[in-house]
Amino acid sequence: MPSLNDIRSTFLDYFRRQGHEVVDSSPLVPRNDPTLMFANSGMVQFKNLFTGVEHRDYKRATTAQKCVRAGGKHNDLDNVGYTMRHHTFFEMLGNFSFGDYFKEQAIPYAWELITKDLEIDKSKLLVTVYHTDDEAAELWKKVAGLPDERIIRIATNDNFWMMGPTGPCGPSSEIFYDHGDHIWGGPPGSPEEDGDRFVEIWNLVFMQHEQFEDGSRVDLPNQSIDTGMGIERVAALLQGTNDNYATDLMRALIEASANQSSTDPDGPGKTHHRVIADHLRSTSFLVADGVMPSNEGRGYVLRRIMRRAMRHAHLLGVKDPLMYRLVPELVRQMGGAYPELQQAQALISETLETEETRFRQTLDRGLRLLDDELAKLPDSAELPGEAAFKLYDTYGFPLDLTQDALREMDRSVDTDGFDSAMAEQKAKARAAWSGTGETQDATVWFDIAETQGTTDFLGYDTEVAEGQILAVVKDGARIEKASAGESVQIVLNQSPFYAESGGQVGDSGTLSTEIGKARITDTKKVAGVFIHLAEVTEGEILSGAGAELVVDPDRRGAIRSNHSATHLLHEALRERLGDHVAQRGSLNAPDRLRFDFSHNHALSADDLAEVEAQVNAFIRQNSVVETRIMTPDDARAIGAQALFGEKYGDEVRVVSMGKAKTGKGADGDTWSLELCGGTHVRQTGDIGLFVALGDSASSAGVRRVEALTGEAARAYLAGQDRRVAEVAAVVKAPQGELVDRVKSLIDERKAMQNEIAQLRRDLAMAGGGSASSGPDVKKINGVPFVAQVLKGVNGKDLRGLIDEHKSRIGSGAVLLIADAEGKAAVAAGVTEDMTDTVSAVDLVKAAVVELGGKGGGGRPDMAQGGGKDAANAQAAIEAAEAVIGG
Ligand code: ALA
Repeated sequence: MPSLNDIRSTFLDYFRRQGHEVVDSSPLVPRNDPTLMFANSGMVQFKNLFTGVEHRDYKRATTAQKCVRAGGKHNDLDNVGYTMRHHTFFEMLGNFSFGDYFKEQAIPYAWELITKDLEIDKSKLLVTVYHTDDEAAELWKKVAGLPDERIIRIATNDNFWMMGPTGPCGPSSEIFYDHGDHIWGGPPGSPEEDGDRFVEIWNLVFMQHEQFEDGSRVDLPNQSIDTGMGIERVAALLQGTNDNYATDLMRALIEASANQSSTDPDGPGKTHHRVIADHLRSTSFLVADGVMPSNEGRGYVLRRIMRRAMRHAHLLGVKDPLMYRLVPELVRQMGGAYPELQQAQALISETLETEETRFRQTLDRGLRLLDDELAKLPDSAELPGEAAFKLYDTYGFPLDLTQDALREMDRSVDTDGFDSAMAEQKAKARAAWSGTGETQDATVWFDIAETQGTTDFLGYDTEVAEGQILAVVKDGARIEKASAGESVQIVLNQSPFYAESGGQVGDSGTLSTEIGKARITDTKKVAGVFIHLAEVTEGEILSGAGAELVVDPDRRGAIRSNHSATHLLHEALRERLGDHVAQRGSLNAPDRLRFDFSHNHALSADDLAEVEAQVNAFIRQNSVVETRIMTPDDARAIGAQALFGEKYGDEVRVVSMGKAKTGKGADGDTWSLELCGGTHVRQTGDIGLFVALGDSASSAGVRRVEALTGEAARAYLAGQDRRVAEVAAVVKAPQGELVDRVKSLIDERKAMQNEIAQLRRDLAMAGGGSASSGPDVKKINGVPFVAQVLKGVNGKDLRGLIDEHKSRIGSGAVLLIADAEGKAAVAAGVTEDMTDTVSAVDLVKAAVVELGGKGGGGRPDMAQGGGKDAANAQAAIEAAEAVIGG
């Protein structure tokens, strides 16, 4: 009896032998299709090959594709656990021809594989074809020898396959298996077709058209093939059952659930085990592909699936979280075919455990509330929307979880009431926001958030992605289109562009649609809506169009390096300066980083050098940067740094980098651990190099370190080097002797300045130089008086000159005014024998008034002062003469 893993290899091997490239499954989050929530069939990753937009070096491919149908258009969630064939996660096996073979080859391949390689009994098989497809009907007759009554013509869309409202499409032919008349049901096209007897196992699509938004259809450049086989269904029939949950892989998961909960796999908890087994697959694969539980978009779908399973685990009576204990069995079953499961095993377990622990904290109380509410109602009455909303808002019960709980009692929820309670809460949030006055035109963003949803950020994993334009906004109002030359704001359902927050600047790059291009200069966000600031450069940008978004990779790379380096810097500062160091602000721009932190003193050169060395040591360690999602409390419990006073949501991203024994992190060996929503390098070595430029005061008690990383740091150091070389050349010294040479030049300069000052003094005494009045001795009122204005003499030299004049004249008064670039310093001296007659203080005071100064003072034999108008020196001398003259 072949196992599910055997069937997968048989299928892929068969098509490999037929010249098909075996291509890996694409991630569950489609990179190339903004209209899809999750990959829901094998052809999604090849969409552009069918339409001829993209070419690869193979024309035939085969895959085992991971698919999730639990959100958006295809939503099987509500049925899972209660039916035999519904799953939120399943694998689709497919073979594809891109303009190579068509139905004449696809049908023989399919027939050979199922009847020869998989050995399915021919007599149990029948097929359908599109009612007009005579060619396919003929081929089935010829290749398989099927009689006419087992080639059923179907006129409905069941046999015309379309990926979605637009895209490649074509008539299809489905292969059915008859499980036998002991099971109720009729062949396709009959009134009993929905029974379980006849099961579709393989769909062959003959791709030949492309459908456009306006409903028109054109022929594809080349006819192609897209097929999809549900591996679980084929496994069921090959293992002699019509119940997908009885197959080896699903059974192993169900048994793991039964073992871990110490319950009977086939007892009263049977449905719970089926739900748990299915949801374990979808949630684990989604986490492995980068989706994290949240309250928005894909993350919310994940959370809904998780919580639905967790309620069923609770119903089994288990006391502790269960889901994460089943991950090892899932990895045993599927990790071989999907290595990403093994790689992400720790993350998956941790995410499931955290979510289940948290959910259990409110689950009991929520279920009690539900019971109380139901007790108040007449039998089988609907649960009021208000109550369902309270369960959602306070106890974390997604609506479908409440519906699932009620389903067992044959009851339902007033969903309109739930919607209006939700709308009311959103209106309150909006009113609270407008009150802050932060963005005057926030209304438009709230409108978009409420009517069209928020933006899914894809940029942690990719810098290129497609998105759908939800709105084009100009001057606070929505417009239908923008033309070349216009500046507008564009909102998309998903985007790889990081919106400015947490100190990290917004991304820039390009946006292109089929008919237009725009440059994105910045990205911001309000109420979860990412606002792309755009300048339309070509054609037109239409609201509603699909767009390709490309983030400027070099710029984002530099931002990433700076952001990661900021985390390393923060930790290095704490280690060097103490635990009081806490982040007060930061900037992570492409060209530099800035980190503000609480600390009272300037950093010494040694502090800065040590911190810089420490950061570079962790860069060279080149350890992997890890990101997890957890509750703020759990994050603090493992030692993560959070911004003081910052409000965090229900879950936070925790970024860890660097390995060192610190006691932080799950294993106590994480060096830096911070709550952060930003984008980071994969490994610390990607930062390259870190240079601290210096430290300055930012505000009271807050210091600021600015720094460079990567190429900017290298360029900076190279520039410094060049300057040192230039200086060495100018002062003509080898670089090693540069400091001594510069010091000796400065000493020489000082000595020369002293010598010049002395020469000037000598010159002044000699009455030469630039003195404007001669050093002649005048006699006023019997007092010999010398006055002189000096240029190029320092104010502080005046005292010495006064003394020299005093000893030269022997008896009398002296007044000297130094003119230093228009400003005046004045000094007066009187010999001892004359101080009773005239005071130096009076002379200076009189002179100072004329020189435009104030005061002046000293002793009767020596006084000094100053003023701003040296031009009035002559008037100052006259004023002093007037004092002597009495
Ligand atoms: N794309 C086709 C399907 O999903 C094969 O059924």
